[in-house]
Amino acid sequence: MDVVEEIKRKLDLAEYIGRTVPLHKSGRSLRGLCPFHSEKTPSFYVFPDRGTWRCFGSCGEGGDLFTFVQKRDNLDFRGAIRQLAAEAGVQLSAEAAQRRSKIERLGGVVSAAVDYYQRRLRDPSASEARDYVRERRGLTQETVEAFRIGWAPDEWHALHDYLSGRGYDEEEALAAGLLVRPESGGRPHDRFRGRMIIPIADERGQFIGLGGRSLRGEEPKYLNSPQSDLFDKGRTLFGLDLAGDAIRATGTAVVVEGYMDVIGPWQAGYRNVVATMGTSLTEHHAALLRRYAKRIVLAMDPDAAGLAAAERAGGLFLSLASPELMARSARSAEQLTRGAELELRVAPLPPGKDPDEVARDSPAAWEKAIAGALPFAEFLLNRLMEAEQPESPLQARQVVDRLRPVLLAVADPVERAMYVQRIARRLGVTEQAVLERVKQGAHVPRGPRAAPSRAEAPSPEQTLLAILVQNPLLRAEVRPLPPDLFASALDREAFLRWLHAENGGDAQPDDPVADHLGDLSRRRLPPFSPDDARRAVREKIREIGRDRLIQRQMAVTEELATAERTLGANRVAEVSNEVWRGALPPDESMALAETVIEELELGLSIHRREESTSRR
Ligand code: UTP
Ligand code: MN
Repeated sequence: MDVVEEIKRKLDLAEYIGRTVPLHKSGRSLRGLCPFHSEKTPSFYVFPDRGTWRCFGSCGEGGDLFTFVQKRDNLDFRGAIRQLAAEAGVQLSAEAAQRRSKIERLGGVVSAAVDYYQRRLRDPSASEARDYVRERRGLTQETVEAFRIGWAPDEWHALHDYLSGRGYDEEEALAAGLLVRPESGGRPHDRFRGRMIIPIADERGQFIGLGGRSLRGEEPKYLNSPQSDLFDKGRTLFGLDLAGDAIRATGTAVVVEGYMDVIGPWQAGYRNVVATMGTSLTEHHAALLRRYAKRIVLAMDPDAAGLAAAERAGGLFLSLASPELMARSARSAEQLTRGAELELRVAPLPPGKDPDEVARDSPAAWEKAIAGALPFAEFLLNRLMEAEQPESPLQARQVVDRLRPVLLAVADPVERAMYVQRIARRLGVTEQAVLERVKQGAHVPRGPRAAPSRAEAPSPEQTLLAILVQNPLLRAEVRPLPPDLFASALDREAFLRWLHAENGGDAQPDDPVADHLGDLSRRRLPPFSPDDARRAVREKIREIGRDRLIQRQMAVTEELATAERTLGANRVAEVSNEVWRGALPPDESMALAETVIEELELGLSIHRREESTSRR
């Protein structure tokens, strides 16, 4: 559970506000004098059900527990979290802060190593490495500089001595995987020796690891930084820092398997390419890419990818080695993409060719493969059907059984119907027969699936935010929106960060706002065209406004009910009548009359809004 949630659970909003603002019960809400402006009649309301508060008087402020503390004590959101955590006795883990600063320090050491290795590539003694980079790999100076390619000389303590001379901590260099302590103990030495260095950055361009390519075919061909607090292969896509803009511009992220399969296409002008690093595509990768584009095109050798992935659970399998793997593959593809609303495709590259070679040697073939990429399920079905030549009814049934898991993983009924049609034709049976077999077949074991994050229906505020986060082009349009449209401080902060950051928030660990933005970017929304999204945004803004009016009307109605109890229903009716006729009520009923007028006005404006909505 995140801190924000935990604090809200521990502190009762009404009780908390009541400590500094005298409140009295007014129906289901509580009421008092607004602490944020001076007033004589109480127009400050706390709504315990919603966990929000609002002043319906002249200041019009409102929000949740966090915004209350922000306003009262003049704090930013982080400050409010710190203060409330202390008051609620929630551990704002010192570990979290410590871990973050450790990660920053490790990143610093890796950056230093990147600089160092890059300089070593220019050494007179590095001519073999330069030849390899320029001649054998055909990389231009521009490419070498863009990717910060370097050279780790074939020495045991080159980096070690450089770092210690610069005052870097040996333990940190070990933790970052740059140095290795010999198993026998003793003096740590460099991990990368005699290798071309390919720095690995996160999506913001912060260096987190290195890949080292051997020059003369020594094993392993690639030596990588080990998994660490800083470097997590399952969450990293090589090249994303350089590919982000092109992915956005083309709406497509091409995913390959190798460092050189990113670098080669980049040099050829195809810059929307990223690589997994010896792992299969994970849900973290999918969520990361979703921030940039909706379409993922896998450009990898399917069999090889499957084999590499087969050792790892939960990822994406492309291997056609067995029906079980196929079924798992279909399910993980569905799992991977559904939460993020991604479109997963497979580009059929010429067999036996690396993306590196294809993009550089035959750009036309590259473009054709990417443009003609097949939907994932279709790709799997084609491959399966190619493999099977049924010669008997029994075999035909087996083919359908084998295809079933893939079909069942197709969420869209229209798409599924098309595949069923194709299968039926190919097998020479009716679609009906295929469908029945698919439905009656053994129940498909379901892979683990992320539980829906929240059971309640999403608030219009959150839906609005999710639409915005997933449609960054609307940024300019909603810039004039007042941030206090969002009652929850977390929503508010997320909105502001999204509005001011290009990237929908940066992914620091333990950052509730970034986590929230991440959740929002994965929220499942209907497939919107840009116009649909614009309309939906307007619709949600209206809904929020209307919601607020209704809230206010409820508060006013409660006030009238109180008046009826104290003054008697007749008196309230009389005053209402006078107001209705436009007469001036006697002085002592002035406050009551104002309330009546307010209620009338609120009722009218809600009605008007409903009308204007239903006319659309
Ligand atoms: P490949 O062997 O296909 O790499 O491995 P490549 O990019 O074509 O390499 P070149 O062109 O021969 O230089 C694909 C990816 O698998 C990982 C690396 O991430 C590599 O880019 N790999 C491969 C390793 O981590 N270690 C290895 O020994 C081999
Ligand atoms: Mn290659």
